[in-house]
Amino acid sequence: MRRALIIGNWKMNKTVGEAVEFARALAASLPDPVGRDVAIAPPFTALYALAPVLRATAIALCAQDVHGEDRGAFTGEVSAPMLLDVGCRFGLAGHSERRRLFGESNEDINRKVKALLRAGLTPVLCVGESLEEREADQTCSVVRRQLKEGLNNLPADDIRRTIVAYEPVWAIGTGRTAAPEQAQDVHRFIRQFIGHMAGNDRAGEVRILYGGSVSPENAGALMAQEDIDGVLVGGASLDVDSFRKIILY
Ligand code: 13P
Repeated sequence: MRRALIIGNWKMNKTVGEAVEFARALAASLPDPVGRDVAIAPPFTALYALAPVLRATAIALCAQDVHGEDRGAFTGEVSAPMLLDVGCRFGLAGHSERRRLFGESNEDINRKVKALLRAGLTPVLCVGESLEEREADQTCSVVRRQLKEGLNNLPADDIRRTIVAYEPVWAIGTGRTAAPEQAQDVHRFIRQFIGHMAGNDRAGEVRILYGGSVSPENAGALMAQEDIDGVLVGGASLDVDSFRKIILY
């Protein structure tokens, strides 16, 4: 049984003060137990301050990015052991904004996934096609390549521990969500492909999240799909009330 997971990706939003205020309000508004896994991915600057606020709650911390090496001369970067040290449990790797705006390749992302696993964090490998690729009928080939290269050389048990987030680029921040059935088709494909890489039993345990304009209105229908095990929420996770509604849908 795959437990639902809801992650809020705040991207480059919220000061430390705003982040702490949000976390307190969200934690106070959730029932105990929540019945599903919840995490927030604040900017790096807020991680350290959020850790003690979230410690006694059901909300985990997720990093938005990580460097592929554990230490060294990489000005501006943050390593997986450092993220573990500040209390992260999850780390995103290969978000489409990192791929598109910062030129990350599948090879870079594979190093990040491995670095997260090495440190004992759970990687959330983000995949998804652009509008052009969807219109050219390349969704499956693009996603297959992102999975194959992003999970390259990982032992099958590490693949089982990895979370995949399918975020079609055309649905991110645009208000255009994939229809639940359209998303389900890609999620099923992802699970089948992971089955080829790591065996069907392990693929059956991998959580596959959907991301892209998720809102309180569409979260329930998306998560009702057989292979959609949770959501990765951007804009709608910046507001306590809308994020709480998505968590509890
Ligand atoms: P939006 O929910 O704002 O479309 O962002 C999705 C996303 O990129 C989450 O990682």
